[in-house]
Amino acid sequence: MDLTNLMRELSDAFGVAGFEDDVRKTIHRLVSPHVEEVRSDALGNLLAFRKGTSEFTLMLDAHTDEVGFIVKWIDERGYLRFAPLGGWDPRIIPSHRVEILTRSGQRREGVIGSTPPHIQSDEDRKRLIPIESMFIDVGASSRQEAADMGFRIGDPLTIHPPFTELRTGYVSGKAFDDRAGCAVLVEVARRLAGARLGLNVVFAFVTGEEVGARGARTAAYQVEPDLALSVEGTIGADMPGVPEESQPVRLGRGPAITVADNTIIVPRRMVEALERVAEGSSIPYQYKLPTYGGTNAGAIHVSRAGVLAGVVSVPCRFIHSPTSTLRIDDLENTIRLVAEFVKALPNALEREQ
Ligand code: CO
Repeated sequence: MDLTNLMRELSDAFGVAGFEDDVRKTIHRLVSPHVEEVRSDALGNLLAFRKGTSEFTLMLDAHTDEVGFIVKWIDERGYLRFAPLGGWDPRIIPSHRVEILTRSGQRREGVIGSTPPHIQSDEDRKRLIPIESMFIDVGASSRQEAADMGFRIGDPLTIHPPFTELRTGYVSGKAFDDRAGCAVLVEVARRLAGARLGLNVVFAFVTGEEVGARGARTAAYQVEPDLALSVEGTIGADMPGVPEESQPVRLGRGPAITVADNTIIVPRRMVEALERVAEGSSIPYQYKLPTYGGTNAGAIHVSRAGVLAGVVSVPCRFIHSPTSTLRIDDLENTIRLVAEFVKALPNALEREQ
């Protein structure tokens, strides 16, 4: 499967935080041919294991969840009210079509309503609509009818425009944060299948990052890694209106190495190891400017007695919105960097004299 189709499959899978069965099944199918063992745990993490020739263990981490919403109320006219799961800008939510996962596993559609301009006052037009005031039209005309259609309080939902290739090597779809990271891990596992590894590698596909790095905590506890690398889809902000010094990462410049974000200050030893591997393999890279955002590495590096950890990201524009974009060459270069890093470990951590 080429990288565009791999992204398509991962992006289109349903995986709102806490409701990640579909994306977990998809990843299980994609990764299991390339590893020795696959396990999952009570939090829904999927851990895929490769044995190496030493006791040193590397945990590669990507999160399976995406930002979405949860039904919080069904009113007497059949409208669904909802709350966010993960961080959203309320201004970009109204008028989208949504996909709602019912208890029976059906994916039903609805539309987040918006008031037509004809009946808005000048004041209405300027007002920010809070998420609490928004509603979804599912075609039901009463609470009973919505219930008969299968809707319940607690159903998760997401905005899901179909994945598309805007041009060759340039794709758009939902949930690139962090299905881009999942794609990197799946592809690294595929490329390393059969290779003799100098260390154990655990490909950790973890749940609940967008609601507080929940899966990463229990995954790191059980894996007990000597080293961890989180792979993210991160804030590509090379776009009109954003000055260069405020663009955390830019598209087309390769994987972004994190030096510090709001959850971790990456030890220089780790940053330098990644730089050396990239330079040694002629892989372009950039830095993710400090200190925007946070990642699972924040939770992993303070697990147990502490873990050496770092972050590498695929630049993605418009994350935490209905559709992101990314360049397949950035994805490819991130895969190359992670794969070369694995091959160079554990020696890559030692500074060359
Ligand atoms: Co993320």
